[in-house]
Amino acid sequence: MNSEQNAENINRHEFLRKLGFAGSALAAVYFGANLQSCTNDRVSPAPTNLTLDLSASENAALKNNGGYVIKDGVVIAKSNTGAYIAATLTCSHEGKREIIYQTDHFYCTAHGAKYDNNGKGLNGDGKKGIAVYTTSLTGNILTITA
Ligand code: FES
Repeated sequence: MNSEQNAENINRHEFLRKLGFAGSALAAVYFGANLQSCTNDRVSPAPTNLTLDLSASENAALKNNGGYVIKDGVVIAKSNTGAYIAATLTCSHEGKREIIYQTDHFYCTAHGAKYDNNGKGLNGDGKKGIAVYTTSLTGNILTITA
């Protein structure tokens, strides 16, 4: 950096300070181009063509209300009301892939985040919610789509 560029940067710094930017706000102005909003990587890749054969023994848990299976990063459950529902395996709290289904809600075994059947957070750790997916049943084939 030559002295002319240095002087220009100092002037810019003084200009921003006069506008009231200081500390982290000033840093944000300087590095703003590199700042990104916190994207939510909490969800597993959206399921595409994820199907389960409900007559298969590995999916037997889905015969009972409150039962669930995990496949391809998705938790597929039979809700407390008998509806087939699905959500990401990845928790929005700290990204652990530990979501399960408990009776009438999705639950993360890592720290206890809870989400209702629609993915809405039910406690502090679950406040960001989780992605839920659409399910459709044709015969014994359950299809999950984003
Ligand atoms: S990562 Fe799920 S509750 Fe913390």
